[in-house]
Amino acid sequence: MVDEGRLNQFIGRMLGDLGGAASIAMVRMGDALGLYRALHAKGSMTCRELAQEADVNERYLREWLSHQAASNYLSYDPPSGKFTLPAEQAMVFAAEDSPVYMLGGFDLMASLIDAQPKVQDAFRNGGGVAWNDHTGCMFCAVARFFRPGYLNNLVANWLPQLDGVVEKLERGAAVADVGCGHGWSTVLMAKAFPNSRFVGYDFHPSSIEHARAHAQEHEVLANTRFEVAKAKEFPGNGFDLVTFFDCLHDMGDPAGTAAHVRQSLKPDGTWMIVEPMAGDRLEDNLNPVGRLYYAGSTMVCVPTSLSQPASRNRDTFQYGAGGTAVSTRLR
Ligand SMILES: C[S@@+](CC[C@H](N)C(=O)[O-])C[C@H]1O[C@@H](n2cnc3c(N)ncnc32)[C@H](O)[C@@H]1O
Repeated sequence: MVDEGRLNQFIGRMLGDLGGAASIAMVRMGDALGLYRALHAKGSMTCRELAQEADVNERYLREWLSHQAASNYLSYDPPSGKFTLPAEQAMVFAAEDSPVYMLGGFDLMASLIDAQPKVQDAFRNGGGVAWNDHTGCMFCAVARFFRPGYLNNLVANWLPQLDGVVEKLERGAAVADVGCGHGWSTVLMAKAFPNSRFVGYDFHPSSIEHARAHAQEHEVLANTRFEVAKAKEFPGNGFDLVTFFDCLHDMGDPAGTAAHVRQSLKPDGTWMIVEPMAGDRLEDNLNPVGRLYYAGSTMVCVPTSLSQPASRNRDTFQYGAGGTAVSTRLR
């Protein structure tokens, strides 16, 4: 028997979910058109004032503003007809350096939607979807999503938790940042520790190009370089510190990677691994964060890892149309 109360409750939740999904395009347009930034910089405005300020069509803007007010992203004052970006919402939508800036999250959700056809196909054939095969700029979305966390925590909170590492970095250490993506973590460390030498490795050539551009923009080229390399094969040894930010779980052979990292370190070197904080059991992750992680894992992390050869204990594998190892069976 259907319980009407529970049904209505669930439908209410679905309305919220659909509203959130609809906000992906709306929020990204507000970002791309500079609407949040204009409201943040200039304060409350009517639709006409914001249309002039941001140089956009007033008729479209009226609908966008109404959606934002209905979403509680903006507040609306009926007597004056003005819309305001409250201080808390500004931290999420407009202040790029705030620890809770979340526009990268909206970009990432758009990437998950783009990935659907390829991942759906992989569900049938058991194959992977290589990092490089994602459409749009999923890589830019990932970098933008993680940057606020690194900016606000990496140097101030995370590195000091490692025994003796900050002292070594201050004196002058050799550091490899593996799976560095667009290189924000590398650049932030290089800026904070000018006596140390940093090399960022990633197997995705376009990410390495972006990382080099960020290093140039932030003037850390004197102690930083970026190279294309796989985590299991990156060159060099004698590193004082090797860092992996949100990437070990994306790799086809994390155990083989760990062995390679070990031989690359000095005997007293440190391997820093930053991974999403999740419980080991499904029942410990049945919450809003777990929900997002499982979606990201389904659409990006598992397909990336299954697209890579896994060298340990692999007894069968098949090749997909793209010629990459797409299916492994582990003993
Ligand atoms: C989720 S992203 C994280 C990027 C970056 N560390 C950050 O936090 O913004 C995972 C990164 O791992 C890289 N990656 C995945 N497998 C790799 C492998 N086997 N060797 C080197 N890089 C790899 C991807 O190219 C991607 O840049």
